[in-house]
Parts: sequence; structure tokens; C-alpha cells
Amino acid sequence: MHEAYGGVVPELASRVHQQNIIPVVDQAMKAANVIPSDISAVAFTRGPGLMGSLLVGSSFAKGFALSRNIPLIDINHLQGHVLVHFIKEKDKANRHPKFPFLCLLVSGGHTQIIVVKSYLEMEIIGQTIDDAAGEAFDKCAKVMGLPYPGGPMIDKLAKEGNANAFKFSKPLINDLDFSFSGLKTSFLYFLRDRVKENPEFIEHNKADLCASLQHSIVNILIEKLAKAAKLTGIKQIALAGGVSANSGLRQASKEEAEKRNWDLFVPEFKFTTDNAAMIAITGYFKYLIKEFASQDIAPLARMI
Ligand code: KG4
Ligand code: ZN
Repeated sequence: MHEAYGGVVPELASRVHQQNIIPVVDQAMKAANVIPSDISAVAFTRGPGLMGSLLVGSSFAKGFALSRNIPLIDINHLQGHVLVHFIKEKDKANRHPKFPFLCLLVSGGHTQIIVVKSYLEMEIIGQTIDDAAGEAFDKCAKVMGLPYPGGPMIDKLAKEGNANAFKFSKPLINDLDFSFSGLKTSFLYFLRDRVKENPEFIEHNKADLCASLQHSIVNILIEKLAKAAKLTGIKQIALAGGVSANSGLRQASKEEAEKRNWDLFVPEFKFTTDNAAMIAITGYFKYLIKEFASQDIAPLARMI
């Protein structure tokens, strides 16, 4: 639905949430082979995110909790991304990071380096001062005329391209913070100049453009992650968020881990982009310490 508009249209997103929330919950319960009376608590995303969509989820969760007389648990979406590393799956190795670990959280809205001290205690030690890494992928993809979301498409096309074909400007940002808006602008101007000379430039160089851009973004991320590991002395390193699905980032982090002796945790693909399991696992840890929400809790579009 969003593809037709080249991005997420908030009003449409909330309407579709409204249409789908009941059938989706119903289908999930059937797939899990549970009935409402088996459920001991309901966890929902409080934020950050689009207010209209958050309202649909929180209203549904409140109604469900009230009608079943079970606890309501509010979840920070970003905490959810980080805690995917503790999801236990049947017949899987289920290796989990030890506290404290560093998590590079890279999504469409956030780029952060987090020291994870315990299940629910996290400290952000670096973050983007402008665009998120996923946003950089999506915006540059749009400039090349690729469909939304551009990240997965760039990843796919990059596999056929030369990562050293083109060079784009590297941000000069202190400490452990990130910046991606300069890269986006340099990519845009570079294409504009080349297309002036040759209108077919993008079409003829798509794979090399994708590979070079991906290489630049991944380098920025890995460099700061390595700096954070060195500064904190932490060698338990995890990735999370939609951009952690990126094969270039997964590969580069593996190479870095070997070089620097890190114990690396990369989520399974299905737990990289937004998913309900990450909200459930965070809800589980809050349930254990009885950290419940009341019925008057409001969603928040922005959260730290
Ligand atoms: O975590 P997520 O599903 O939603 C947010 O919380 O934002 O992340 C979505 C972001 C989008 O920007 C999308 O382009 C990016 O993750 N993404 C990727 C890949 N798969 C998803 N970026 C690069 N390579 C991928 N394979
Ligand atoms: Zn997300």
C-alpha cells in the first residue's frame, strides 16, 4: 500500500491498522493454538512511532486487558528491537548475549549505540544527529527511482555491483554519534551531475551505485561500533533493527568480530524488521517484575 506513495502515509497506516488489528490478533491466536483465556497479559507498543497507528494498538490492548481482566504492559519499541536477542525458539541454538553488551540499533527511524546493562536497563551512548541509517537507504533509493522501502532493494542490487566503484563524502562527527544527511546530499548531487552528462547513468550503473552506497553506510556504522567497543571495553556485540537485515552490514560485522575478538549476535532475519515477537519478549520481562501500565496510559510518538 505504501509503495504506491513512495513512503508511509500516516493517515493510511492508521486506517489499515484499524482494519487489521482484530483479524491479525485472531489469526495469531489460532496460529499459536491459544484462546483468550490462556493469555495472562497483553503488551503493546507505547512508542515511538506514528500516533494514529499507536492509538489503534494501545486502544485494542486496553480493551483486551480490561475485558479479560489481565495486566496491561506498555513497551518501548526500541527496547523491543534490542531484546529480540532473548527470544527462545524451539529446536534452535538460542545463544544470548551476556550483560553488559553493546547493541547497534539501526532502523528506519533510529540509529543508536546502546549499552544494555540488563533486560530493561539501557543507556544510549551514541545516536544520529539527523537521518537514521534506514532513512539514508530509503531516501537514496528514492532518488534512484527504486520502490519503497528502498533498503532491501539496495541490498539485493548491491550483490551484483562493485562496492568501490564510487566514493561518497564521509561525515566528520565526533564521539559516537552518527550523521547521514551529508551522505544523502552528496549522493543526490553526484547523481544530478552525472545524469546531466548521461540521462541513462542511473540505469546503467544501478548495481555499482547500490553497492557503493551500501558500503559507505555500512562503513560509517561499523567504524562507530568499533569505536564504542574500544571505548567501553565491551566485546559482547549485538545488532538489531530493520537495517540489521542488510547483508553488507551482517558480513562486515562478522569480519570485524573476527578481527577484534567480539562475541557477535546477529538476529535472525524475521526478528530484524518490526515484529510482534519483540514486543512480546519485552512484555515477558516486564511481566516477571510486575511492571504494569494503567488504563489511562497514553501512547507517545516520541520517546528517548
Ligand atoms: O525496524 P524497522 O522495521 O522499522 C522501524 O522501526 O523503523 O526498520 C525499517 C528500515 C527501513 O528503512 C528499511 O529500508 C530498512 O529497515 N531495511 C533495510 C533492509 N531491510 C530493511 N535496509 C537495508 N538492507 C536491508 N536488507
Ligand atoms: Zn522498528
